[in-house]
Amino acid sequence: MGESVIPLADLRTLARPARIPAQPIPATGLLSDQLGRPLRDLRISVTDRCNFRCSYCMPKEVFDRDYRFLPQSSLLSFEEITRVASLFVAHGVTKLRLTGGEPLLRKGLEALVQQLSALRTPAGDALDITLTTNGTLLARKAVALREAGLKRVTVSLDALDDAIFRRMNDVDFPVADVLAGIDAALAAGLAPIKINMVVKRGTNDHEIVPLARHVRERFGPGVVLRFIEYMDVGATNGWRLDEVLPSAEVRARLHAAFALEKLPPSAAGETAERWRYADGGGEVGFISSVTQAFCGDCNRARLSTEGKLFLCLFATRGHDLRSLLRGGASDEDIASAIGLAWQERDDRYSELRGSGTADAGSGERRIEMHYIGG
Ligand code: GTP
Ligand code: 5AD
Ligand code: SF4
Ligand code: SF4
Repeated sequence: MGESVIPLADLRTLARPARIPAQPIPATGLLSDQLGRPLRDLRISVTDRCNFRCSYCMPKEVFDRDYRFLPQSSLLSFEEITRVASLFVAHGVTKLRLTGGEPLLRKGLEALVQQLSALRTPAGDALDITLTTNGTLLARKAVALREAGLKRVTVSLDALDDAIFRRMNDVDFPVADVLAGIDAALAAGLAPIKINMVVKRGTNDHEIVPLARHVRERFGPGVVLRFIEYMDVGATNGWRLDEVLPSAEVRARLHAAFALEKLPPSAAGETAERWRYADGGGEVGFISSVTQAFCGDCNRARLSTEGKLFLCLFATRGHDLRSLLRGGASDEDIASAIGLAWQERDDRYSELRGSGTADAGSGERRIEMHYIGG
């Protein structure tokens, strides 16, 4: 292999070791980054594997049989994840989201949920623990996850039409099985359930109204459908601006079928703009990171499967926490390293791209969505 060619799999290992500051940064819950943003949300990727090959995330041509996924030895153990999560919670995190790849492919995930659900905020409150899944294993796992302490789930679902759904997941998986997974999650008491639909113009945009209608009729107001603008995340999905359908247009199409009314935000730093059906049919959301970036109060940190901390979905490099965990660092040192990374954070990629000044980061390849989760 030519010296200048770095295989994609190896780029994941480029990371600065997380620095431990000379002065400890105590966990007061009051951390603030360079733009004054607090730390509230930790997204934990538990596997880089997935049983789907959605073209906007893991295109088949790249993620084929030769693709080198992370070896088992490099994954954080559940104990390591729980230890890191507890330090984030001490720093002010109140929401944990398990992601992947497909998180339900990680063996025994219920045991991790159980460990995480025992964590408490400094004020003694339980955490908001949720999971993003493609729904394929939900029918089998919903009850066990609920019993382990999971509160709610978000299911990715890009089309109601079976042929379009099979084409988008690119492994010929039937939509009926995902819908049955959502039924099972509802029956298990996981609530509220959210459904995330990534809208690609020309691929599934004509599914907006049929999917919305089906969600209203089949699941009722307990399930919130959210429409996501197709993003230029990663480096493999061949993103094109003309395939983005702006949320304003998605909303106009939906509004033509069902009258909508705007709702106030339910929390600071939210990704979705919330609306509701005027007839009481429930809530919908619009996630517009391309046309209306929401970096201004982004309070999200991401922990990769092998223990790197990423401060933005579009980051090129992480801060390696695993070397601290496995090198005998104390909780205080690791908490200080997390604190320092957050204090130095100035990422706001979507905003910069919107203003035409985005820099992909010294020519380095951006992390992939399947590696860091949504
Ligand atoms: P809730 O707590 O249920 O509201 O979840 P959430 O909206 O915070 O998280 P979710 O993972 O459901 O996010 C939905 C989608 O929004 C993701 O799949 C991404 O496409 C996008 N998204 C989430 N977080 C970010 C972010 O920090 N930046 C950008 N640009 N997009 C994001
Ligand atoms: N654009 C927008 N959202 C994406 N996701 C993955 N890739 C993209 C992309 N290119 C989101 C989807 C999926 C979740 C796991 O990540 O919401 O459901
Ligand atoms: Fe599709 Fe989600 Fe799997 Fe990516 S991680 S290929 S978006 S199901
Ligand atoms: Fe946060 Fe980066 Fe997404 Fe902006 S682009 S909202 S800073 S993760």
